[in-house]
Amino acid sequence: MSRKPATLLEPGCGQAAAGLTFPRYRHLLAQPQGDIVMLQTGPAQRPTGFLLGRQGELLSLFVTASMRGQGVGRHLLQAYESELRQRSVERAHTVWTDGTAGASAFAALLGQAGWRPPHARMVIYGASFERLGQALWMNAFNQLSAEFWLGSWDELAPIQLVALRQAVRFEDWVPPELDPFKFTGVGIDGSAPEPGFNLACTFHGEVVGWNLAHRVDANTLRISCTLVHPDLQHHLVMLALWREVFRRNQDASYRRVSWGVAVERQPMVAFNDRHFSSYVDRRATSWGSSKDLQASP
Ligand SMILES: CC(C)(COP(=O)(O)OP(=O)(O)OC[C@H]1O[C@@H](n2cnc3c(N)ncnc32)[C@H](O)[C@@H]1OP(=O)(O)O)[C@@H](O)C(=O)NCCC(=O)NCCS
Repeated sequence: MSRKPATLLEPGCGQAAAGLTFPRYRHLLAQPQGDIVMLQTGPAQRPTGFLLGRQGELLSLFVTASMRGQGVGRHLLQAYESELRQRSVERAHTVWTDGTAGASAFAALLGQAGWRPPHARMVIYGASFERLGQALWMNAFNQLSAEFWLGSWDELAPIQLVALRQAVRFEDWVPPELDPFKFTGVGIDGSAPEPGFNLACTFHGEVVGWNLAHRVDANTLRISCTLVHPDLQHHLVMLALWREVFRRNQDASYRRVSWGVAVERQPMVAFNDRHFSSYVDRRATSWGSSKDLQASP
């Protein structure tokens, strides 16, 4: 099918496509940074297809419903890959979450365009606070023993943070992807930190667990990073951290909560499935794929 080429937008000029990307990325459309790649099809003020990338990271691809199945998505993806080659970017990569028709179509589109077979990254859970609060374990749970302290991350003393930094560097119980210091600021997807829900747990004064959170939107809180030292009764501590999240949400207004577990952490996935499956209304998998761009045109 012949069609007009996709238009490469100038940085900062993507506002007309705001409806064609995720809310969490909309702030990028007006940013003048040169590493943002925006490609659009259709009329300038009413685009029918839109691809957003940050250099080699493909953030979103969207085609309006009436234009789907006509090659527009493939065309935008090809234009993106060409643009990256021109910028000497060697590799493109992307992540997405399954469970929607769009996600299946997207995965098929990538496969057809020669991207690597998808690899599973995280299991993602979502629930309403109201429903999760009905969980039996939530109501049966008692206090941690006096050797533990559980409170706000911001209350940790500098010396405790220094010791924790050492543990992150030199001990093997903190996987790099759960390094708490990567989660106390803005989220990797640009979501705002939520210090009111950033929790820490100590045992005899040493930091042994945390729950670090971000605000996805006005309704939804995300627990972005949870870890408890495996030598402790980590399930009990984990549940104590959860209970504290609930307690604090009584003063806040979040209706929903989401969290993810890396697929490599199978015992943790099993723990979540055992304790939460009756209460979550979303269990999806996030996937990743990439393509080497220098190999083939
Ligand atoms: C994913 C999306 C961008 C595809 O765009 P599109 O213009 O409809 O796709 P194309 O017509 O270019 O199709 C190209 C290939 O994608 C795959 N594909 C597209 N739609 C598909 C569908 N409904 N089911 C299965 N595969 C599909 C096919 O491999 C197709 O090749 P083929 O036609 O030779 O079989 C579009 O469905 C969409 O915008 N969905 C909603 C947004 C979304 O979920 N985006 C993905 C996450 S960012």
